Amino acid sequence: MEEFKQTNFGFQEVSSSEKTRRVTDVFHRVARRYDLMNDVMSTGIHRLWKDQFIRMMNPVGEIHLLDVAGGTGDIAFRFLEACPQGSVTICDINPGMIEQGRDRALDRGITKRLKWVCGDASALPFEDASFDFYSISFGLRNVTFRIKALEEAFRVLKPGGQFFCLEFSKVQLPGLKELYHFYSFSLIPRLGAWIAQDRDAYQYLVESISQFPDQAQLEKEVRAAGFDNVKFHNLSAGIAAIHQGIKRAGARASDK
Ligand SMILES: C[S@@+](CC[C@H](N)C(=O)[O-])C[C@H]1O[C@@H](n2cnc3c(N)ncnc32)[C@H](O)[C@@H]1O
Repeated sequence: MEEFKQTNFGFQEVSSSEKTRRVTDVFHRVARRYDLMNDVMSTGIHRLWKDQFIRMMNPVGEIHLLDVAGGTGDIAFRFLEACPQGSVTICDINPGMIEQGRDRALDRGITKRLKWVCGDASALPFEDASFDFYSISFGLRNVTFRIKALEEAFRVLKPGGQFFCLEFSKVQLPGLKELYHFYSFSLIPRLGAWIAQDRDAYQYLVESISQFPDQAQLEKEVRAAGFDNVKFHNLSAGIAAIHQGIKRAGARASDK
């Protein structure tokens, strides 16, 4: 049974159900400080990456986006600004993150064109072929059943629909690689302890980044889920990467 399969929670080997429980717990604990920590850890660079993500989506017209693992709404808010006729459904497994996101939306006066749903990326509570675009930003790494989540993305997209994933990846510059490793493992958990009062959550973050597949492997997995025209674009020399793909009209995942 899938829930008893072994997987990784950072560097620890745990059962699948234990990973889901622990990831949910991590984001429940850090939800209130999540946005502040993102700014501090990345010195604001995550904002530029997210802006670039939206530019690559280039949404025009009445696009309905499903933003999975949408957390506190960063992608949805940018999308709605870039696409005045668009709408977003945010789906996240964690009610604590959704609550923070709802508060932020109210603070910004965003009440229309936005829907919040609590659900799991690997068992999406939506009909087949429901959305024009699917996005997942810094979420796929946390999902217990990653391959299933990619298949679900394919299932819920309409024919011609587009898939976008923004995630930490593998640094491509030798000098930067060592520096980044030092920064990640020595400083981020300390920042987590100081700002979010949760060292363990940020230790998990850096471990999960180092366990996540590299650009080429993720590209293969996205293609195997059924997508065409799959490609990736590195950000900041590969610290993060954007993967994208298209659900060809008439394609089924089993065609691949
Ligand atoms: C690092 S945050 C990313 C939030 C937001 N997308 C962003 O870019 O700032 C990861 C999010 O993934 C959510 N998450 C983790 N596992 C999930 C799953 N299986 N299904 C849906 N959401 C999940 C967490 O609750 C959390 O909100």
